[in-house]
Amino acid sequence: MSLANKVARRFSAEFGEAPAFIALAPGRVNLIGEHTDYNDGFVFPLAIDRAAWIALRPRADRCVRVISLDMAEDQSFDLSDLPRPDAPRWIDYIIGVAWALQRGGYRLTGWEGVLAGDVPIGSGLSSSAALELAAARAFYCVSGFAWDAAQMARVGRAAENEWLGIQTGIMDQMISAAGVAGRALLIDCRSLQTTPAPLPAATSIVILDTGTRRGLVDSAYNERRRQCEAAARRFGIAALRDIDLATFTRRADELEPLIRRRARHVISENERTLQARDAMLAGDAEALGKLMVASHTSLRDDFEVSSPALDAIVNCATADPSCYGARMTGAGFGGCAVALARIEDAEDFARRVGAEYEATTGNKPALYVTHASAGTRSIKADSIASLC
Ligand code: GLA
Repeated sequence: MSLANKVARRFSAEFGEAPAFIALAPGRVNLIGEHTDYNDGFVFPLAIDRAAWIALRPRADRCVRVISLDMAEDQSFDLSDLPRPDAPRWIDYIIGVAWALQRGGYRLTGWEGVLAGDVPIGSGLSSSAALELAAARAFYCVSGFAWDAAQMARVGRAAENEWLGIQTGIMDQMISAAGVAGRALLIDCRSLQTTPAPLPAATSIVILDTGTRRGLVDSAYNERRRQCEAAARRFGIAALRDIDLATFTRRADELEPLIRRRARHVISENERTLQARDAMLAGDAEALGKLMVASHTSLRDDFEVSSPALDAIVNCATADPSCYGARMTGAGFGGCAVALARIEDAEDFARRVGAEYEATTGNKPALYVTHASAGTRSIKADSIASLC
């Protein structure tokens, strides 16, 4: 059963009628442009065919009630008295979105509904951003404000950064909000301007989940951000986005060695991401694959956010004749890599890489071919009937 059917059926069983709306927001995988978003740089993600789904109807009061099928929990909160989070639970992401919307002056109506998702949690495919954007869309459905994808991405990020205290850039929320079916999206993380680009013909995107998760990722992420800020301060610029590779190379001696390597990753990654756009527009899979491999090397050696498991799965992928290129994706230290593979062989490629990786490391991976999907959207009652 599709997730749309699942949330709609449970809604009807629980509330005695069909939902008025179904809101959904996808997870993402980033093709290239890693750890560049919080440096005001460029990223090149795509929205995947896995999402958070909410079937809902408005309420007459200011209460929000959500039943999570994945967590088997039924939670409520009052929009006039938002409860502060302790250790963030799933409902706190929805409360955080309500907080950020209300802080932005949006007048919100209460709603009740059923939530389910198939973005794996904690694997680096942005299940949090999917939940934030699905919640923002649910509020949009019942409250009747205008939908602006970039604005809603900022709301999602504010919920995560300021309400939950988890640091992120804008990439995950932006691609979940603004994804385009069949396209990757070049995002300028300073202006939030987006440029869709087609994947090279006859290629598939394969997600390679190492099956490993690292607890240290938050502190390492914050440390990397501080190191990038230190480099920008030293150069007297607002962000590492503001220096090109040639100038950096001339001035590199101004930085101590560790900070120099961190900065070199970000500055070279921005250039690779812009070159990836050219490769995509030219339909050049070989060139795109090479840029992905160079990105992985830079993340592993200069930015030091890869892990033995990520390196192993990337090595298994790039050794395969059907692979154009592969790299770790997301924050790093575990989670997923992404590969660009020949379309006619993508499923077999995934099987081969999975078997090889498992034999080498003993870890149980999950590998799947994914498709670029549209960003956050919703379906109204009249079209839901045809879904169920
Ligand atoms: C996490 C963050 C993003 C981005 C990536 C690294 O996924 O949520 O904003 O910084 O790490 O590119």
